[in-house]
Amino acid sequence: MAVELRESWSIGPVEVPTRVVLAPMAGVSVQAFRRQGRHFGAGLVCSEMVSCAGIEHRNERTLGYLRVGADEHPLAIQIFGSEPAAMAEAARMVEAAGADIVDMNFGCPVKKVTKTGAGAHLLEDAGLACRITDAVASAVSVPVTVKMRRGVEDGSRACLDLGPRLVEAGASALTLHPRSAKQMYTGYADHTLTAELVSLVGVPVIASGDVTSRAKAEAVLASTGAAAVMVGRGAQGNPWAISDIVLGDGEPPTREEVAAELILFIRETVRELGERRASGFLKKFYGWYLGHGRFPKPFKNELVQLGSTEDVIMRLLAAAPGAAEIVERLEGELPDPAGDILLDGMPISIYGGG
Ligand SMILES: Cc1cc2nc3c(=O)[nH]c(=O)nc-3n(C[C@H](O)[C@H](O)[C@H](O)COP(=O)(O)O)c2cc1C
Repeated sequence: MAVELRESWSIGPVEVPTRVVLAPMAGVSVQAFRRQGRHFGAGLVCSEMVSCAGIEHRNERTLGYLRVGADEHPLAIQIFGSEPAAMAEAARMVEAAGADIVDMNFGCPVKKVTKTGAGAHLLEDAGLACRITDAVASAVSVPVTVKMRRGVEDGSRACLDLGPRLVEAGASALTLHPRSAKQMYTGYADHTLTAELVSLVGVPVIASGDVTSRAKAEAVLASTGAAAVMVGRGAQGNPWAISDIVLGDGEPPTREEVAAELILFIRETVRELGERRASGFLKKFYGWYLGHGRFPKPFKNELVQLGSTEDVIMRLLAAAPGAAEIVERLEGELPDPAGDILLDGMPISIYGGG
């Protein structure tokens, strides 16, 4: 059965205009990434995981993650933690910062997170996972969703026991990345589990894992009955993958378009993180954008060596002069950054450079 990727669907009262969701990715999902994802057709975007302890203690860098632009909606902000009351408090702040959805991370496999009882640890502690979900869903009026892996151990089916219990505790949608925490990113995402989860719950399920093309998106939606697919690594430096999945236009971008999107991304990220943090953060993006046979490899190596992001932009403009006009047009379409949501009367953006 063919599935229309451009069809809207809903999480509680939140309407999501397409069936493609941009994945939360730590170290990647800055505002520029989310904004670009929406622009290229993702129906929903998500912040990277934000520590609920960091929110509670008003850690400057954490609060920087809570910057919300007018053109990002619908936007989910993802929080992680292991203490129901602290998670509920973080959820209230996230709602105040303008999130349309509070998403909770029950899948992060990184030891630093799981040893605190958060992330994938919760796949093996259903009682605590349900108490957290109940506390968070009771604390906010926006929908609360959970993103999980299949379980901790290889072959685990914990998500099928936990999923329906989380819905009972108040989750309005579930995202499943059907790899085990042990697997990290090896092997493949077993979406037969996604299909089983869909059959067990009455809320939308989002299928995450290995969706990189329109054909794969259609196959996953058709075989699982999921409401949407989530795209992560496939969209790194490649927002055209999103428009190709949603619209099926398949046209590869020109060099000028690639350079223009990268320049905009650099400028936005510098505005968000400040030059010092942004210049390190951005290096991985140069390879992601300029790969795919778009520019010769030595060009990427040259960019990584340059001292400032302004030098990188100048080098990109020299290599693709037609990009300047496209950048000007794209910048003209951006909302005024002064309109970014305020938290506690302070522009959140002031924390971004911390
Ligand atoms: C660099 C990186 C960072 C990630 N960070 C998060 C995160 O903060 N929260 C989360 O729920 N998942 C995170 N993930 C998992 C992705 O959201 C997604 O479930 C996974 O990458 C599988 O999808 P893909 O094959 O489309 O990449 C991360 C993945 C990557 C590659």
